[in-house]
Amino acid sequence: MNDIESLIPEDKETRLVFFVNGKKVIEPSPDPLWTLLWYLRKRLLLTGTKYGCGEGGCGACTVMLSQYRKHEDRVKHIAVNACLTPLSAVHGLAVTTVEGIGSTAEKLHPVQERIAKSHGSQCGFCTPGIVMSMYTLLRNKTSIKYEDIETALQGNLCRCTGYRPIIEGFKTFIEPWEAKYSPVDQVASCGMGKDCCRNKNNDINSDEKLFNTTEFKPYDPTQEPIFPPELKLSDEYNSNYLFYRGEENVWLRPRSLEELLKIKEKFPFSKIVVGNTEIGVEVKFKRKVYPILISPLMVPELNVLQVVDKGIQIGGAITLTELNSFLQHFIEKNNEKAGILDSVSDMLHYFAGQQVRNVASLVGNIITSSPISDINPILLASSATICVSSSRNGLRKITIDDNFFTGYRKVNIADNEVVLYVEIPFTDKLQFFKAYKQAKRNDDDISIVTAAFNVKFTDAYNVCEAQICYGGMGPTTICASKSSNLIKGQHWNDAMLQKVFESLTQELQLNNSAPGGMAAYRKSLCLSLFFRFYMFVLSKLQYNGYCIDNKDALGAYCIPSAEPESSQCFEIKNNRKSDFDTIGKPIVHMSALKQATGEAIYCDDIQPTQGELYLCLVKSTESYARIISMDSSKALSLPGVVAFLSADDLPGQRNKMGAIEQDEDIFARNVVTSQSCIVGAVVATSENIARKARDAIVVNYEKLHPVVVSIEDAIYNKSYFPGYPKTLNKGNVDDAFSKCTKTTEGIIRNGAQEHFYLETMSAIAVRKEDDLEIVCSSQDPAEVSILVSKALGIPNNKVVTTVKRIGGGFGGKETRANVLAVPVAVAAYKLKKPIRAVFDRDEDMQITGYRHPCLIKYKVAFNDDGKITGIIYEMYFNAGNYMDISPSMVSRAIFHVDNCYFVPNIQVNAYLCKTNTPSNTAFRGFGAPQAMLAAEVVVRDVAAKLNKPYENLIEMNLYREGDLTHFNQKLVHCSLSRCWNECIETSNYWERKKHVEEFNRLNRWKKKGISLVPTKYGISFGADFFMQAGALLHIYRDGSVLLSIGGIEMGQGLFTKMIQVASKALDVDISKVHISEMATDKVPNSSPTAASMSSDLYGMAVLNACEKLNERLKPIKEMNPNWSWEEWISSAYFDRIALSATGFYSAQKVDYNAETNSGTLYEYFTYGVACSEVIIDCLTGDHQVLRTDIVMDLGDSLNPAIDIGQIEGAFVQGYGFYTMEEMLVSPSGEILSKGPGAYKIPSLSDIPKQFNVSLLKGAPNPRAVYSSKAVGEPPLFLSASVLFAIKEAIKSARVDAGVTPDFTLSAPATCARIRMACVDFITQQVEPTIKNDGKPWNIEL
Ligand SMILES: Cc1cc2nc3c(=O)[nH]c(=O)nc-3n(C[C@H](O)[C@H](O)[C@H](O)COP(=O)(O)OP(=O)(O)OC[C@H]3O[C@@H](n4cnc5c(N)ncnc54)[C@H](O)[C@@H]3O)c2cc1C
Ligand code: FES
Ligand code: FES
Repeated sequence: MNDIESLIPEDKETRLVFFVNGKKVIEPSPDPLWTLLWYLRKRLLLTGTKYGCGEGGCGACTVMLSQYRKHEDRVKHIAVNACLTPLSAVHGLAVTTVEGIGSTAEKLHPVQERIAKSHGSQCGFCTPGIVMSMYTLLRNKTSIKYEDIETALQGNLCRCTGYRPIIEGFKTFIEPWEAKYSPVDQVASCGMGKDCCRNKNNDINSDEKLFNTTEFKPYDPTQEPIFPPELKLSDEYNSNYLFYRGEENVWLRPRSLEELLKIKEKFPFSKIVVGNTEIGVEVKFKRKVYPILISPLMVPELNVLQVVDKGIQIGGAITLTELNSFLQHFIEKNNEKAGILDSVSDMLHYFAGQQVRNVASLVGNIITSSPISDINPILLASSATICVSSSRNGLRKITIDDNFFTGYRKVNIADNEVVLYVEIPFTDKLQFFKAYKQAKRNDDDISIVTAAFNVKFTDAYNVCEAQICYGGMGPTTICASKSSNLIKGQHWNDAMLQKVFESLTQELQLNNSAPGGMAAYRKSLCLSLFFRFYMFVLSKLQYNGYCIDNKDALGAYCIPSAEPESSQCFEIKNNRKSDFDTIGKPIVHMSALKQATGEAIYCDDIQPTQGELYLCLVKSTESYARIISMDSSKALSLPGVVAFLSADDLPGQRNKMGAIEQDEDIFARNVVTSQSCIVGAVVATSENIARKARDAIVVNYEKLHPVVVSIEDAIYNKSYFPGYPKTLNKGNVDDAFSKCTKTTEGIIRNGAQEHFYLETMSAIAVRKEDDLEIVCSSQDPAEVSILVSKALGIPNNKVVTTVKRIGGGFGGKETRANVLAVPVAVAAYKLKKPIRAVFDRDEDMQITGYRHPCLIKYKVAFNDDGKITGIIYEMYFNAGNYMDISPSMVSRAIFHVDNCYFVPNIQVNAYLCKTNTPSNTAFRGFGAPQAMLAAEVVVRDVAAKLNKPYENLIEMNLYREGDLTHFNQKLVHCSLSRCWNECIETSNYWERKKHVEEFNRLNRWKKKGISLVPTKYGISFGADFFMQAGALLHIYRDGSVLLSIGGIEMGQGLFTKMIQVASKALDVDISKVHISEMATDKVPNSSPTAASMSSDLYGMAVLNACEKLNERLKPIKEMNPNWSWEEWISSAYFDRIALSATGFYSAQKVDYNAETNSGTLYEYFTYGVACSEVIIDCLTGDHQVLRTDIVMDLGDSLNPAIDIGQIEGAFVQGYGFYTMEEMLVSPSGEILSKGPGAYKIPSLSDIPKQFNVSLLKGAPNPRAVYSSKAVGEPPLFLSASVLFAIKEAIKSARVDAGVTPDFTLSAPATCARIRMACVDFITQQVEPTIKNDGKPWNIEL
């Protein structure tokens, strides 16, 4: 590599100079391995920019890059993923991070203010990235439309909010609002329009809105920071030859084509880097090493973007965003010849997210030649050309045809060649071109199948040219040549279509072991998309009497996107005794502003201390095997590696952990039972070294059998945890079955759901003398302390665990956070050094477990009138390799399998399957969403058997006040019927159902469905000892109040609610009360923050502490009623009154007795009903939620903004579970979904297009603090309304196809499942051709 120096000019630049938030940064020796994200966070300590995935898939790391374009005399701003941006690429640029646009101390930027005040920040981990995407949009466009916001945020994920509040907050930047700044009556717009509850009730308190736009500062684009003049004035930055040498590789930025070609000639293995969106991912996750990286951005020949005779030329350095804006201008003026270009432009909208498109190049996509490239099928179908050049052979033009893609990720260009440009041709008269992309999610997703179709007609309407091309159907992009040739000379009619179908069915070969899976779906898609194209061309041609049938018309198009609207309906009581009483008001999350400015500190944002080391866990590579040997010598010999820890460091029981049974090894000893087992940990001086050392640990295994992966495997091998099945019996099911008039039976299953909290697991531990301090991202810090003290053999009082906030948890950080936190603590204690560790996203997803996959079989006894008299359920849960808290999850599932229905005789047998997969754990809803799904399937099944509307069945069997549940708890204050009736009314259900039926009658290829789902969720931990809570309250001499509680803040607004409770109880302004963090030395023995119970428990504990202090302050207050709070406190201090108090609360005893199935299990129930309407695309399986209406009984809400945020967030998370999120696992137990690229959570464009939430009015709950109700988990199940609406839509398609409407739709209802359930002549033709050639690529867990 030293030879490289001979090619480098003398005047090279070896320093990297750039600006960050207006300040000049000079890095004298940049390493090409450094990403901008790493540099910002670790070198510049700007931790507002977050790490969420490292692969460009979440947007948490979004920053703005600005560059002065001399030839255009303008500054160009782009949002980029800092995790994929090489630091070396920012020479001469200005970087703006979230810290650079505003702060709470000085001035908030309107983007920061509006996202926070519109309640668009819950855990806040996604917020800085979202702020920066929106900020960059506003810097580029002075007048924006809704579509601009949607496009700008395509690459940003949020797991908490359900996006609705973010959209509402940002919609205020759309011109009409800005133009009318500060109108007195301005409120957040309501999706209900004239039906808005506000318009119906004149008595409503004017406060009844979640946020008040009149408070917002106007947005003034002229006030933005100026671009650093130095970068504008000096041409040097853009003309330097850059040469950076790092530890492993070099970075070159030549200035001319000649210089570039010389490097490529001498070092053909050198890599050109444009956007780094392929190379960056390869380096990080596939651990590829590229010794020479070349940036071609300054080479003029690669920067062409021009119209030529026969098409347009796109240079190798042109980004997809630049290309798209060029295309859009061109198409506007030259529509008649822009068919192919139009398809490219359409496709670019669905290509990745904005941050990726802003840097990625078309040529990078071609050269990578991924078989699922979105662009390559278009280039192949249009016979586009590329122009390459090399020093040796000069220029060469290549047509992209069948010979171009030579193998998996290989193309027909030599290593020494550089692509100068691509030329995409214009279309002729009577030429039709279309491209389609099918992905799991609409936005920012890689495709499953991409298709491009090109046909040209003669004047006599004979086809004279045809190309049918696909991506996703093999190792390369392919042209179905036989089928394409067959069309030539034909008329465009049904006979031709039939021939093409037959030919494609033969020509496209895919079997069930094909990488990517879904063989039948992918093949069906190929035919379906061609069918769509056929209808599209037919609708345009309309010749010889051929025209498209009205019923088929919508089949020619995809589901169009629409702007979402929403409404939130709630009540604010007027009877306040004090101005300080904020209970029931939509107070903004206390940390929201800090989260929006990047000031909020999460675990890995804590600045490193002197001598800090980094720990990396070594996980098993086998699912079930004996450890034969482990060799750490190579790893330990690497410079910077300090230690290797394994089971040898934790003798006997000290190596054991587990929430219920201590069945889990901290470090695997002898045997590994899943690929998530931790075999050891390496500690090194840096993260990079630790990760390298991890890869150098050699473990030899002897494989063991059988490897049990799926529920079916477990049933076959009888692999259950001891004590299972657990059984619940109510009444006499045998009797019910003997006396009923009808029976039915069925099966329902759901897959695993990954938590996908935006902040991955992280931990820092510091030993101080014999004490240990741990900061970690856990929902149960007390348990971390207990486990660490046990592992180290030291008392619990020497281990303090603190959690300030976590970036989302959803149950996933309740027990599984221990997997990382405990080894970090052990290492810190042993090595007497501060230790830090953060999971990469792929580690987090492969190690920490999921929501339990579940399979439920049911048998139902019922009568002709629809009354259900008995049910037998067999439930199987895949627990993974350890017990964890699965037994508690199973119990909740058993107790929620009734959902909302009174069934006099029930038998439940629940099995906990032990498999060689990662240990599954708590996830919002904790078993209930799986079980309640079965109840809803049952009522619909019974309705279908009786040929009655399912709504009648629900109404007939719905619980009523005073009914006994199947665990014999009497329902009091049961508001189910009220929620049901109100939801039917507010959603205008019956009328809309008629419209849906009418739509379905008129349309064959698009179908609608509408469905209602009720829910009842029991509030209690189920375990008595958890039902306690502690609080500690200090009042300082200046009157400020510091509150500590045993619960943690994970975005759910617990701290905010507790501050509201304390402020009301003490009658002091809310701004005086502060919660800093949760720490086990302030509140000991706390329960996990889980089960939706924290507000209930800690609210009462806080009240208890406040009451004690009020009692002490009472004499002073009575004597001096007119004094201020500060005066009372000052006086109390001088009177030597203790201004500190603990609070404690223990809830009513859970006296449920499983033996007798009697007693009280739950404190109370939270009820709700949702109605969802969807449209599905029968040809592709896509769907869109057109509208969702939710009515929820939350008692007297403590904070409607937070509570509605929880409802919407839970709904969207549940929507992901029931429709989209699919964990892929191989038959040998390897987790295949390792990041946001492969695992899709809902994005902004997936939320209901109309999303209306109302809180039931006049339903105070006597059993919780200030008459409120728990909210975190209960709403999640309501999203099953989407699944059932989809099922209704599919039924209609099946009826049209003459197929039985009876079928099972498992969750998630992915596009593949929806398409294949819409059985028709295509699927019937394709399915028999899929060969079973051994092991499938993936199986269901
Ligand atoms: C989050 C994310 C989402 C994505 N979504 C999609 C998607 O929806 N659809 C899709 O198709 N792809 C997608 N991709 C893949 C990727 O973004 C594209 O392939 C992109 O076009 C690559 O361009 P780049 O400039 O970043 O390539 P780089 O990573 O910079 O380079 C890629 C390859 O091209 C070579 N190369 C680049 N320029 C030249 C040249 N002029 N001459 C010779 N070789 C050259 C490089 O040496 C390298 O081998 C996604 C990637 C990420 C990270
Ligand atoms: S961390 Fe960069 S996109 Fe996820
Ligand atoms: S607020 Fe968006 S991920 Fe938590």
